[in-house]
Amino acid sequence: MNILITGGAGFIGSNLVAHMVRKYPDYTIVNFDKLTYAGNLESLKSVEGAKNYHFVKADICDKAAVAKVLSEFKIDSIMHLAAESHVDRSILGPEEFLNTNMHGTFVMLEAARKHWSESEPIEAIRRVFLNVSTDEVYGSLGAVGTFTEASPYAPNSPYSASKAGADHLVRAYFKTYALPTVITHCSNNYGPYQFPEKLIPLMIMNAIEGKDLPVYGDGLNVRDWIHVDDHCKALDGVLHQGRLGETYNVGSDNEWENIRLVRTLCAILDEVSEASPVKPHDGLIKYVKDRPGHDQRYSIDSSKIKSELGWEALIGFEAGLRSTVKWYLENLGWCQRLRSGEYKDYYSENYKDNA
Ligand code: NAD
Ligand code: TYD
Repeated sequence: MNILITGGAGFIGSNLVAHMVRKYPDYTIVNFDKLTYAGNLESLKSVEGAKNYHFVKADICDKAAVAKVLSEFKIDSIMHLAAESHVDRSILGPEEFLNTNMHGTFVMLEAARKHWSESEPIEAIRRVFLNVSTDEVYGSLGAVGTFTEASPYAPNSPYSASKAGADHLVRAYFKTYALPTVITHCSNNYGPYQFPEKLIPLMIMNAIEGKDLPVYGDGLNVRDWIHVDDHCKALDGVLHQGRLGETYNVGSDNEWENIRLVRTLCAILDEVSEASPVKPHDGLIKYVKDRPGHDQRYSIDSSKIKSELGWEALIGFEAGLRSTVKWYLENLGWCQRLRSGEYKDYYSENYKDNA
């Protein structure tokens, strides 16, 4: 099976590429990524020499580049992750979110439709366009309730609106053209290789550098956290077994108020970060102005994927957080090079053939 993974140099994408390359030595895994500020080939060092792995640097909005990769590698299935993914950036500058998340998804869908219509399907090789989306398309919950696949779309940020728009296009391509699509809605991910602008890695990096830990508003907003490895296994399951035209919610029943989570991270760092300039770390917590349109609470009901595909999250939060903190402490160079953009040179040195 030949699989295209878009956004495979990002946080979830790099974990997913590594998972797929290792688990399926007989597949061809092609990573298609523009390498924006969030894409980093250094996150893929563990697989870069693998025979079944290929990297193509290109933009999902570039029709010709997308058509070329689909035909060159005879792509059977697509796991579409490429996106602008950070809510705060979408508030500051929504345009790139619309371009990449909506128009880019349209280009991917249209190219897949053309590519698959021009080649005979091979029996036993599955064709799927898996659109990796977010629970944020459902908007915000109050103190009670959970998001199910039947919850109405009610996105509140430019980011979630652009992901919702992409989901609607995916649905339309299934209904109108019978394109074999599936959508997943996952809750907040954490784990290794996450860009230190999202809550957990930002707090870890700021804390060990003795910088303020900015908590938005009253810190009582709730997020439902899942380890990225559990998410990757869910995507693998949906790719192979998800029913076409369906949506699957993915989460690990793990709701935390932001302030409680930040204090927990501080307590872990108090134990394990000997070199921190400021201890205890929670002395660095600073309440700051709230995010505009800040969703109050997310909570995901994953009973459908559990019962239909036998998937469940396996990584407990305490263990997952500890291993993530340890990973960042052991990979400070990765963070520094990511922030400075230094790894971009690594691309031109190592992937000249794809340029
Ligand atoms: P990320 O920002 O870490 O990575 C995005 C990747 O997409 C980067 O490698 C970037 O270079 C690439 N990219 C961006 N624009 C591109 C373009 N025009 N063409 C080609 N590549 C491009 O994001 P992430 O956190 O890994 O999220 C991946 C996907 O999962 C996104 O679609 C996001 O909406 C979704 N998602 C994320 C979370 C989460 O908690 N992070 C939760 C649910 C769903
Ligand atoms: P984030 O990691 O940006 O994910 P999302 O907004 O997609 O859920 O933020 C998670 C939560 O943490 C969210 O409620 C906003 C809050 N937050 C802070 O309080 N301070 C910060 O510096 C950041 C980045 C987020």
